[in-house]
Amino acid sequence: MTTSDRPHILQIGSLLPALETWLRERYVVDMLDEAPDPAAFLAGQGARFTGVATSALYGISAEQIAALPKLRVISCFGVGVDKIAMDAARSRGIAVGYTPDILNDCVADTAFALLLDVARATPEADRYVRSGLWAQRGPNSFHLGRKVSGARLGIVGLGRIGKTIARRALGFEMDIRYHARHAVADAPWTHEPSLIELARWADFLVVITAGGPGTRHLINAPVLEALGPRGFLINVSRGSVVDEQALVRALVEKKIAGAGLDVFENEPHVPAELLAMDSVVLLPHIASATEETRLAMAQRVIDNLDLFFAEGRLVSEAP
Ligand code: NAP
Ligand code: 8YV
Repeated sequence: MTTSDRPHILQIGSLLPALETWLRERYVVDMLDEAPDPAAFLAGQGARFTGVATSALYGISAEQIAALPKLRVISCFGVGVDKIAMDAARSRGIAVGYTPDILNDCVADTAFALLLDVARATPEADRYVRSGLWAQRGPNSFHLGRKVSGARLGIVGLGRIGKTIARRALGFEMDIRYHARHAVADAPWTHEPSLIELARWADFLVVITAGGPGTRHLINAPVLEALGPRGFLINVSRGSVVDEQALVRALVEKKIAGAGLDVFENEPHVPAELLAMDSVVLLPHIASATEETRLAMAQRVIDNLDLFFAEGRLVSEAP
């Protein structure tokens, strides 16, 4: 392909530096964020672009899609497509590529890191040592944690990542049940059609459903009430799946034992009450963030675009 034949790609938001380099080696790339007036840029230049590179964090809105009349493909860095206006893309026959499976291991590992951290209070214990309290108060002065091995694990969403979390839990000899709208045919674990009943049963409730309007505030005050004062919530899906105000209330009133959260309703803003609590462990949306996984995701973003422009199809097409 000569330089003048190269497809024009609109990049939305900053991406992994390696991905930005690879994109520019193959395509003519413009960054929407670099335009002094992005709306004016789209109005004037939108007709140049046949492709978009974005991430699960930024997505693309229906208005942005409407301003790109020749758009044929969107390639997303991430598996969650809740910020992509899928209906607008589908109605125009625009292909949407994403990065499923590649990140299952790292997201499942992070879910387990959070689970172990909240149960054994490791971040709080680390602060205890650093602050000198251990030296002051002496051996055996830190409070007891809760046992993970053999405990009851409720998984909300048994998709690609949910199953990977369940397989991790087998190594901890946990008793596993899950809730999803449909029972999973090839899963050996008990399907619990009632989310409330799953929460009532579980010691640890791990949330890994898709985001978007269909799961908004699925984890609400009654679910947290059912989880109870000895139950822990872990969320590695989307902030929107948990009613954050209800969660803060449940933690303040000690209606649940604690929470491990990688995602929040209004990222990067975290409710002040959570920042002050020892019973929570808070991560800045890093579940997939290892060098290995992020590079593999970047490669899939490129592979999706390259295959689409060569053959009109994607390696991984979002449903
Ligand atoms: P997936 O294979 O599509 O699984 C999604 C699961 O959610 C399915 O089991 C689905 O089952 C369930 N689900 C959907 N709507 C539901 C509802 N209303 N009630 C109960 N269960 C529901 O997706 P995946 O690859 O495992 O990824 C899951 C999500 O993880 C992504 O969409 C993304 O938002 C999030 N994620 C987060 C990070 C991070 O950095 N924290 C990284 C990667 C992914 P049914 O259809 O049977 O209900
Ligand atoms: C990333 C994610 O944080 O894949 C997803 O849905 O949320 C994460 O893997 C995101 O893609 C980074 O932009």
